[in-house]
Amino acid sequence: MKNTVSTFRNKKSNNEKISMLTAYDYSTAKLMDNAQIDGILVGDSLGMVMLGYDDTLSVTMEDMIHHIKAVSKGAKNALVVGDMPFMSYQVSVENAVYNAGRLIKEGGCQAVKLEGGATVCNQIKAITNASIPVMAHIGLTPQSVNAFGGFKVQGKSEDDAKRLLQEAKAVEQAGAFAVVLECIPAKLAQLITDSISIPTIGIGAGAGCDGQILVYQDMLGMYSDFTPKFVKKYSNLGKMMTNAFKEYIKDVNNSSFPSDEHIFKISDDIINKLY
Ligand code: KIV
Repeated sequence: MKNTVSTFRNKKSNNEKISMLTAYDYSTAKLMDNAQIDGILVGDSLGMVMLGYDDTLSVTMEDMIHHIKAVSKGAKNALVVGDMPFMSYQVSVENAVYNAGRLIKEGGCQAVKLEGGATVCNQIKAITNASIPVMAHIGLTPQSVNAFGGFKVQGKSEDDAKRLLQEAKAVEQAGAFAVVLECIPAKLAQLITDSISIPTIGIGAGAGCDGQILVYQDMLGMYSDFTPKFVKKYSNLGKMMTNAFKEYIKDVNNSSFPSDEHIFKISDDIINKLY
């Protein structure tokens, strides 16, 4: 059965953990769905792990819709959340509702995610009022990388920790159905999780969150440009893929691929007539 925002709410009420991963294409979404992941985020991290950009800022609405469509086809049961790219919701509330609607209508996801706390609460309210569930995202919000001066842990000082607690309460108040807590101290994430009624989804925020999310290329060892401290590598697919590519190249070079089992046959009588 398709997971909904109620599934997420119920899991928090029942003290059950929520598992999420990012995905950007049909085949990967299908594999995660078969493994019974609760939710898939089509993150704007696709700019870095799929498109090779240095950050997420250049990702467009068209990029997001293209990838959300593919993931939505592969995810039969998982809740699909589409990320709102940089400048698709900051300019005005009307623009935010319009773009959130596009992700749902054209991409086929069931919810959208946007970054920020108090400054985007009007957007969260308006999008929620348009019957589109919103996942909020506070802490290290990658679209603010230039304002932060780099990808840095947030909420370590008393003022910043207080601010994050208030931001979490504000996005809950504005109507968000869940909130991502990225790169904040584990004890602060635990306090936030205990202080709000909506599920917290942690990434670099410790085990006290209601759920966890990772970028799948990080957890499978497929993205070598940078691996954050909070990533646990569940496989080394990058190495396995490189070895498979090397073997294929060797087989092509020494003509051992394709072999008899990989070819289509025709009778020699027909071929002889063509010579
Ligand atoms: O874009 C993304 O993948 C994200 C997750 C890291 C939460 O925002």
